[in-house]
Amino acid sequence: MLIRPLSLLLCHVILFGASFAAADTPPPAAPELLRITRPLVIAHRGYSGAAPENTLPSFAAATLAGADMVELDYHHTSDGALVVLHDATLDRTTDARQRWGGEKIRASEHTLAELQSLDAGRWFDGRFAGTRLPLLTEAIELITPHAVTLVERKAGDARTCVELLRHRGWINRVVVQSFDWDYLRDFHALAPEQVLAALGPVAPAKGQPFTDAEKALSPQQLDRLAAAGASVAAWSRDHVTHDSVREAHARGLKVWVYTVNDVATARQMLDLGVDGIISNHPPLIWKALALALRAE
Ligand code: G3P
Ligand code: CA
Repeated sequence: MLIRPLSLLLCHVILFGASFAAADTPPPAAPELLRITRPLVIAHRGYSGAAPENTLPSFAAATLAGADMVELDYHHTSDGALVVLHDATLDRTTDARQRWGGEKIRASEHTLAELQSLDAGRWFDGRFAGTRLPLLTEAIELITPHAVTLVERKAGDARTCVELLRHRGWINRVVVQSFDWDYLRDFHALAPEQVLAALGPVAPAKGQPFTDAEKALSPQQLDRLAAAGASVAAWSRDHVTHDSVREAHARGLKVWVYTVNDVATARQMLDLGVDGIISNHPPLIWKALALALRAE
């Protein structure tokens, strides 16, 4: 049953790519988005189950799938551009190794022109051959008419991102998230109005033991992330409980969980009362929401 709609969606994405506009209403600004009472459907690295992650086809597919938010990751290039990419290295999602040789090829050591000469689609499926790594600005331009972009900073300073968002009028047209809560604190100091999400759990230090208690979305973690300026905890689904969600809500905070790729787990998360579900397959989250509604 899933195959035909998915094929149609892929046809749209491949044929029309970034230029295809879904006939939908403009998304709310970030503060309004947080006031929506139903759980949000958040596409992880775009609709990364159907198209190569963190590319324009993946973002176009996510908007066609009706995602409330479209998540992406960014890094800085050697010449100061903000480029959309998950890993610090290019090996997994581009043809850099075949083209340039070597391994563990760091994006931060290459210029934007070099990075955009790579193929970021063929590794996923030959139909996406020729897909480039997008600039952060290109990605937000594509997503913004249809959904709120959830911008995850993987590397780089807060000031550069704040200045870019301010310059383009995108403060609070997006939500910004990071596992680095010092970055969030810096961002909050520069742009206190911007909605921020704190990703977790965060390991205490490289190589140190990481206990289940430290991974839990506990009242202490909620207090810490709120102090960093976040109004959302974006937490691993394995470490969120009914009590965590209740404690978060008592503090006026939202809870989003990552990464949920099946209907049964999505329904468990909905039962916990989470406010958003991050998924590689956004239509499955819509299905879980519909089933939960029918069960009421
Ligand atoms: O949005 C949550 C998720 O993106 C965090 O993990 O590794 O996919 O960036 P990761
Ligand atoms: Ca991410």
